[in-house]
Amino acid sequence: MKTILCIGAGYVGGPTMAVIAKQCPDCRVVVVDINAERISQWQSETLPIYEPGLTEIVHDVVNKNLFFSTEIGENIEKADIIFVSVNTPTKTFGEGAGRAADLQYWEKTARQILTHSKSDKIVVEKSTLPVRTAQAMERILNNGGNGVHFEVLSNPEFLAEGTAIRDLLHPDRILIGGHDTETGRNAVQSLVDIYAHWIPRERILTTNLWSSELSKLVANAFLAQRISSINSVSAICEATEADVTEVSAAIGSDSRIGNKFIHASVGFGGSCFQKDILNLVYLCEHYGLTEIADYWHQVVLMNHYQKRRFVNRMIKTMFNTVVDKRIAIFGFAFKANTGDTRESPAIAICKQLLEERAHLIVSDPKAIDNARRELGDVADGTVDYEVDPYVAAADAHAIAIVTEWQQYQSLDYERIYKAMVKPAFIFDGRNILDHKALHAIGFNVYPLGKPELAHL
Ligand code: UDX
Ligand code: ADP
Repeated sequence: MKTILCIGAGYVGGPTMAVIAKQCPDCRVVVVDINAERISQWQSETLPIYEPGLTEIVHDVVNKNLFFSTEIGENIEKADIIFVSVNTPTKTFGEGAGRAADLQYWEKTARQILTHSKSDKIVVEKSTLPVRTAQAMERILNNGGNGVHFEVLSNPEFLAEGTAIRDLLHPDRILIGGHDTETGRNAVQSLVDIYAHWIPRERILTTNLWSSELSKLVANAFLAQRISSINSVSAICEATEADVTEVSAAIGSDSRIGNKFIHASVGFGGSCFQKDILNLVYLCEHYGLTEIADYWHQVVLMNHYQKRRFVNRMIKTMFNTVVDKRIAIFGFAFKANTGDTRESPAIAICKQLLEERAHLIVSDPKAIDNARRELGDVADGTVDYEVDPYVAAADAHAIAIVTEWQQYQSLDYERIYKAMVKPAFIFDGRNILDHKALHAIGFNVYPLGKPELAHL
């Protein structure tokens, strides 16, 4: 029986290992983390992350062939394959601050692997890392002088939050990068054999290490670029009375363009897009490719602009002041179906509104605790948190839709309108509501990238 270890029980490590355990009953899968609270949550009824379908899968396999533990050293020793899925945030200090990846957790993990390994191991990079990290990893591991051979592979994860289980069960592709040497090819084959338990072989792509590492950054950069592109178009639409949804549909029906990832929004969020683009930018700068760095950096700058533009439009519409006005923020998660708020556009939007001295009532079905944490240092008594959207909107001057939670589409807006201060405003930052119906109720409606429907 193969023993698979995953170091890092986060958004990537937890669900990925649960699915591997479920699909490979002949493997023993162990997930370790330095965070003991996280580990005990994985062992409990209430998992540390919200992901549709995850609880059922974990429930099926936990303590059968999936185990969670804080015992890192002993599990390294027993493992044949070690996935490393620790966090790699953007550096906040020193050289490359704000752009480069902070690799301290990665390096610590590599040293731990080295210390505790007594037999040959395959080490798999699962976290998104700068290109050529595998090389640094190999140098640390293979110069330990303990006679153990480490083969480093890159196997980036493409799952999206909210659909993680579906993405893991039915991925478009699995990417495995390794060295073109005998030991490298054998290691790649071992990993292919694991995924082949449930993924058709033609969907498992094998490349060299650097292509695999780079492909992960480029995939996220392309996806984010599409969003920034359509968001830039949303600004042109507002200026010209074109409708961004119509433009998206018109361009998206060209099969060369495709209709995914061209929904205008308040901006993209999530732990990956910005971080990975900044990684790519840093890499380009490192190789003296200044024009290429500037090109990709613009995707991030456009995203910042879109968030500010949304708030500026709110302020301008509400008679150029939001001081002491109650604004209900509908949705704080970076997208629907997750409680995750990392890099959520809601953060920048709320902070800017707070600088303008608005009073916010933040509502979200899954992300209230995270919202509280994100705004903790700026809130200062001017933010209330309220899961129930009806309560959040009562006595509010405006509602801003920031996350596209489906339940916001089926609320009783007559009831909401009655309880609000008049004139009542709705700013639909995700274009999920029925704008004509809201206008008929009496709202002044400001969709994103579309003509306004106002009574003023
Ligand atoms: C992303 C990638 O999709 C995934 O492959 C990678 O492994 C990790 O990063 P994730 O961050 O979970 O996944 O979410 P994703 O669905 O890609 O959405 C990212 C952000 O873009 C969200 O804030 C979402 O609301 C926004 N978005 C997405 C848009 O604004 N418009 C769109 O058309 C699509
Ligand atoms: P991701 O979204 O990439 O999965 P998370 O932040 O959700 O990132 O998860 C990363 C996890 O890795 C965290 O739970 C963190 O405690 C864990 N971690 C970081 N460094 C180490 C380490 N040296 N050993 C074990 N776990 C670690």
